[in-house]
Amino acid sequence: MDNYNIALIPGDGIGPEVVDEGVKVLQAIEKLDSSLSFSFTEFPWGCEYYLEHGKMMDEDGIDRLKEFDAIYLGAVGYPGVPDHISLWDLLLRIRKEFKQYVNLRPITLLNESLTPLKDKTKEDIDFLVIRENSEGEYAGAGDWLFKGKPEEVVLQTGVFSRKGTERIIRYAYEEARKQKKTLTSISKGNALNYSMVFWDEVFEEVGKEYPDVETYSYLVDAASLYFVSNPERFEIVVTSNLFGDILTDIGAAITGGMGLATGANVNPEKEFPSMFEPVHGSAPDISGKGIANPLASIWSVSQMMDFFGQEKWGAVILDTIKEMLNETEHLTPDLGGKASTSELGNRFVELLTENAKKLGIR
Ligand code: NAD
Ligand code: IPM
Ligand code: MN
Repeated sequence: MDNYNIALIPGDGIGPEVVDEGVKVLQAIEKLDSSLSFSFTEFPWGCEYYLEHGKMMDEDGIDRLKEFDAIYLGAVGYPGVPDHISLWDLLLRIRKEFKQYVNLRPITLLNESLTPLKDKTKEDIDFLVIRENSEGEYAGAGDWLFKGKPEEVVLQTGVFSRKGTERIIRYAYEEARKQKKTLTSISKGNALNYSMVFWDEVFEEVGKEYPDVETYSYLVDAASLYFVSNPERFEIVVTSNLFGDILTDIGAAITGGMGLATGANVNPEKEFPSMFEPVHGSAPDISGKGIANPLASIWSVSQMMDFFGQEKWGAVILDTIKEMLNETEHLTPDLGGKASTSELGNRFVELLTENAKKLGIR
């Protein structure tokens, strides 16, 4: 029997609402598959915790999280606590401390009715963004000089180390080779005359070891255009931290919105736990209404199963999401339905159970 210890950080806003449904799915899997079990430990960290305790997480938080096989996170950040504090002290801190330098964000159209792009099919919109997740524009390096004075200057420095740049680019080449897909690097060497020139050089250098991988290189502004006009150009994309952040929200927009966008923050060496979360945030505009779409969060459970080597479950979850997308009446309002978050989750578990039985999983 494989037992996995999962740390739950529901976080803020709709975070707890969607994590609840993901946990339902994990509990259903545990019931259906006698070879698997999960133990959950919930951490109450987030903005409310901050307002009460003056900190986003406990001092020994990172040490405590180290013991887990995975972290399942909802969302962090809420009005009342400055975003740069809440995010840097919890979400970004975990990504950095646990060297989750790979962020895997699939941009896959699961149902053709969901794209606002005219005439684009499932075959056209089916790619993977591999976002650098530990440094770059998110290095947190900078300075604030002469605050409040006329000569005030603010610096925000992007940090691109040889090690950090090479490892993400190599990871992407490996993935492209394994999947026999093209690899596209997205950068901005024309304007960012240090960081992105370096990025482009590393992309070319590492590429010499992968003559079998067909490559493309686009500037991020043009790439943003192609995400919308010609998404079929992309198979595997590798890009820097900030560009990956922005591009994957565009990716969400062309595949059904934030309620369907997932991301895995992976430490490939498995030296530290990896973290699974939807791409969206705490959505203060809809939180507390019970209408958040939990499918992104459920999809991140599928990514977690793949990461655990339980690909069978990863696939059943993804297939069940596809099936659910045909049942508008069971979907949340963002996808045109009238269901609540938990009604969607309950229906999902019903379908998952049927699908697992059909496959003879026991
Ligand atoms: P957001 O992703 O929370 O919301 C953007 C829009 O998408 C909103 O209109 C929201 O209602 C909608 N949306 C998001 N998730 C949805 C879902 N599951 N179902 C239906 N609709 C959904 O982005 P924001 O409003 O810019 O940020 C809100 C807060 O979340 C900020 O504090 C921000 O810093 C934080 N944030 C956190 C994360 C994270 O924890 N990973 C990610 C993004 C933003
Ligand atoms: C994301 C989020 C985070 C990021 C924020 C909340 C710091 O937008 O995961 O996409 O920029 O990485
Ligand atoms: Mn983002």
